[in-house]
Parts: sequence; C-alpha cells; structure tokens
Amino acid sequence: GSIFTSEVPLPQLQAIHNMGILAVFALPLLLLGISGIFYIYQTVIWLVSKSAVQNKVVVITDAISGLGKECSRVFHSGGARLVLCGRTWEKLEALYDALISVTYTPKLILLDISDIDYIQDVAKEILNCYGCVDILINNASMKVKGAVQSISLELDKKIMDANYFGPITLTKAILPNMISRRTGQIVLINSIQGKIGVPFRAAYAASKHAAVGFFDCLRAEMEEFDISVSTVNPTFICSYHHQPAPGNWEMTYGVHPAEVAEEVLRTVSSKKQEVLMANPIPRAAVYIRTFFPEMFFAIVASGIREKLKTEQEN
Ligand SMILES: NC(=O)c1ccc[n+]([C@@H]2O[C@H](COP(=O)([O-])OP(=O)(O)OC[C@H]3O[C@@H](n4cnc5c(N)ncnc54)[C@H](OP(=O)(O)O)[C@@H]3O)[C@@H](O)[C@H]2O)c1
Repeated sequence: GSIFTSEVPLPQLQAIHNMGILAVFALPLLLLGISGIFYIYQTVIWLVSKSAVQNKVVVITDAISGLGKECSRVFHSGGARLVLCGRTWEKLEALYDALISVTYTPKLILLDISDIDYIQDVAKEILNCYGCVDILINNASMKVKGAVQSISLELDKKIMDANYFGPITLTKAILPNMISRRTGQIVLINSIQGKIGVPFRAAYAASKHAAVGFFDCLRAEMEEFDISVSTVNPTFICSYHHQPAPGNWEMTYGVHPAEVAEEVLRTVSSKKQEVLMANPIPRAAVYIRTFFPEMFFAIVASGIREKLKTEQEN
C-alpha cells in the first residue's frame, strides 16, 4: 500500500515530508552555491589581474581603436603608467580626457605604426621618459578587404608594414631594455585570421600569419630572460561605429571590445602564451584547418561558390 497510510507512524511521516522539502530546495541551493563560488573566484582573479599591472609601464599601440581604448581603460584603472600611441592626436587627447586620473596620467605619443623609420625614435622617447617598458601591447593594425587581384602590391606592402614590420620593429627596439632587466611582457593582438585564411582578406591574413610566426619564435628565444610573449586571437570585435545587420558573422560571433580588453589583462597577469577567443564554429574551423586541411579548403571554396551564386541571382 501507499506509505501515506495511517499505518506509518507520525514521526516517520514527518521525516519523509522533511526529506521531500530538502530535495526540492537542494538543487537550487547547490546551483546558487556553485555560482556564488564561481563569482567570487572570478572577482578574485580580476583583482589579482589588476594588481599585476600596478605601477607597470604599459605601452599600447593604437590606443584609440575600439580595443585600444578599452585596454587603456582597464590598465589605467589597474594603476599602470600608460604610454598611449595613436596616429590621430585629437583622438588621443579625447582618450586622455576620458581617463579619469586614478594614479598616473598617461603619456601620449603620435605613432603611425607603418612609419617604420620613425619607430626607433618613439622607442627612445618612451625609454627616456620612463627608463623601461614592462608591458608592450602591439594592438595597432590596418585592415583591408578585397579580392587578391583588386588590391595593389603597394597596399599589400603597406599592410605588411603596419601589421608585421611595425610591431616587430617596436618590439626589437624595446627588447634590449627588457633583456637587460630580465623581465617584461610582450602581447600581440592578433586575429583568428592569423590562424586560418579567410577569402578576400589575403593581405590582412598574410600579415597576421607572419606576425604570429615571428612572436612564436620570439617566445622561445625570450624564455631564458624571463620575458613572456602572448598572442591574443579574437574572432570578431564588435565595432562602436557600426551595427552589423542581423545574421551577419560579426553579430553572431562578435565580442565587445571591453570583453577582449579584460582577456588581455588576464593574459598579462597569468602570462598565458596564447588565447583564442572564438565560439564553437570558428574554433572548430581552426582545428579542421590543422587536422583536416583538405576538408577546410573544400568548405571555404564551397562558401565562395554559394556567395557568388546568390550575388548572381540578386
Ligand atoms: N575588429 C575585429 O573584428 C578584430 C578581430 C580580430 C582582431 N582584431 C585586432 O584588434 C586590434 C584592434 O582592432 P580594432 O577592431 O579595435 O580597431 P578599430 O576600432 O576597427 O579601429 C581601427 C584603428 O586602426 C587605426 N589604424 C589604421 N592604420 C593605422 C596605422 N598605420 N597606424 C596606427 N593606427 C592605425 C585607426 O586609427 P585612426 O582612427 O587614427 O585612423 C583606428 O584606430 C587590431 O590588431 C586588429 O587586427 C580586430
């Protein structure tokens, strides 16, 4: 018969009733507890990351870009001594005004990263001012979109200057100081396009592949000097300036620049060597490119055929 008959003694009935109540509340309480612990853990990591950059001399190239601005904000609030580089003075001044002084006021430097001959002077100016660089964030880069035959060789070279020769020239100019102090951190803001070739982005993808190759080699060479090299590879960063149409890749896979900046701070604090910020589909694409290259090439090619077909139909 049923356990809820009058034959079951009252205390036992009460115990069963209590267990029922406990079971109903146990799962939500457990979930609440886990999320509470997770939240506390995240907060502690965040505070530790911020304290890791306190008083550090941090150079950010193209500090006025979407990601550059957020990196400036995050490192500034962590108490870093910032050197903000950018190629438009008015935008640098606007950024300066937006950073409410917590501790140090940032130093501003006009820098077009493709102006290779000028980079040595910039490095000298920074080292004369602070005597050292603790963290160099190579964020500046130029983007270009278009079929290979529509991009001039001149533009290909300009992209290579901005995205490869620029960052490596600045890095090489600052390295002797880091090596002599046997400390330092170099971060390259790369892209998933430094890992996989996406059609109509040949020059950009090539320059990002080149940069990641350089910094991967540098990482191994710098280990004996305790200098860490990190590459952060986002997929799409949402732009402040335009809203992508629904269904657009940027909309689906894009992350806010503030989220990427926080990841950069965590990467610096943990000295992580490589970070890939990608949702499952782009992440799978990187693995397919590595382990099943022919499959990857076939998928990309069929994507292009589909695109051309719909363009012809419209
Ligand atoms: N946006 C994305 O989806 C995405 C995805 C993956 C990785 N990334 C990487 O994230 C980093 C930041 O990009 P972002 O999207 O934040 O930039 P963004 O907001 O799109 O801004 C582009 C920036 O590039 C600057 N710039 C162009 N040519 C330059 C040069 N020769 N020297 C110095 N600055 C130059 C522009 O400066 P002016 O305003 O003065 O012209 C502008 O600040 C880059 O390394 C990029 O490759 C971006």
